Amino acid sequence: MPTRCRYFCYGVIPCLVVLIATPGIPASISPFTTGSLRALAAARGFWIGAGDIHIWPLSADVQYRDVLAREFNILTPGVAMKFEVVQPDVDRFTFDTGDAIVAFARAHDMRVRGHTLVWHAALPQWLTAGQFSHDRLAAILKDHILTEVGHFRGRVSAWDVVNEGLNGDGTLRDTIWFRALGADYIDQVFRWARRADPDVSLFYNEFGAEGMGPKSDGLYRLVRGMLERGVPIGGVGLQMHVSLNDGPRPAEVAANMRRLAALGLEIQITEMDVRIQDTPGPLAEKLTAQARYYHDILRACLAVPRCTALLTWGISDRDSWIPGYVGHDDAPLLFDAAFASKPAYDALARALAGR
Ligand code: G3I
Repeated sequence: MPTRCRYFCYGVIPCLVVLIATPGIPASISPFTTGSLRALAAARGFWIGAGDIHIWPLSADVQYRDVLAREFNILTPGVAMKFEVVQPDVDRFTFDTGDAIVAFARAHDMRVRGHTLVWHAALPQWLTAGQFSHDRLAAILKDHILTEVGHFRGRVSAWDVVNEGLNGDGTLRDTIWFRALGADYIDQVFRWARRADPDVSLFYNEFGAEGMGPKSDGLYRLVRGMLERGVPIGGVGLQMHVSLNDGPRPAEVAANMRRLAALGLEIQITEMDVRIQDTPGPLAEKLTAQARYYHDILRACLAVPRCTALLTWGISDRDSWIPGYVGHDDAPLLFDAAFASKPAYDALARALAGR
């Protein structure tokens, strides 16, 4: 399993920002070919992207940068905007990696999804071991949200305000934030985010709630209640981390999207990857089936007017988080480890072209 080499490299970040921001450097540092996914997506006002974007490959790997800029018109940083990175100490905020990734996106006319403000993971040690009172935790979270959303105001198109707040049965997950602020914490943090930026789209982002079932029913009840209470939620992110042999059926995903859209919410597929290694059979057949699944999910999204984006979680199989998660290699994305496009890439191009 190739080790994933992702570092916060302070020596590189200023170079990256200089490279991108210096006038005279071509705005796009990579050839922009027609027929790319982003060209096909732009033709129909759709956002096609890659998430889990990290500063190290972005500043050191030309292929990574070129494919990202050539094929996608939206990106999500993997960790640069998460609590543990942005606020390494209670009284210290650092935005340099987030700023560098945003600078790259703006230099290539790409949107950025902010990810993520309120999550039970990626929290710094000073917070989780701090023995803070509930009131103090609430004040820390409010300051975190107002500071970070304010910092990126006008430079990100959407925020995953709350990430993964539900259990598998659709009830609220018992997290540090649930315990500190109470059962209405999600309403509260969305209001804080809106106060810091009156224009950005505010999303609730979840895994395992893409099809129809207890978790997606719980998600539907959650966001319907938020809308009824006047909470400024604008969209739902369906992560779509799935396996070929047990992913939600595209028809169910379509039904779930339609009911969310009927509430007036925007839907985005935010972190799609399709594992194939736990499916038996020859690799070529699995890659074909993977392509069909990507195709059918994107078609389901395109059939719902309020479904506005599909992002994969990573660009190439080399950088995917999946091998570290499942403990063995896999090939879940659109490009292989050598950044060659796979059948899944062609399948998304066909779907974007209406075929
Ligand atoms: O950059 C440091 C490096 O300096 C250090 O040597 C190394 C070892 O400690 O850690 C590196 O940071 C890691 C970071 O990824 C960059 O590789 C963190 O430890 C690690 O926790 C972090 O994992 C990310 C994880 O979220 C937690 O933030 C994954 O890359 C990222 O794919 C994953 O993404 C999540 C979404 O945010 C939410 N949906 C699920 C998805 C997959 O878990």
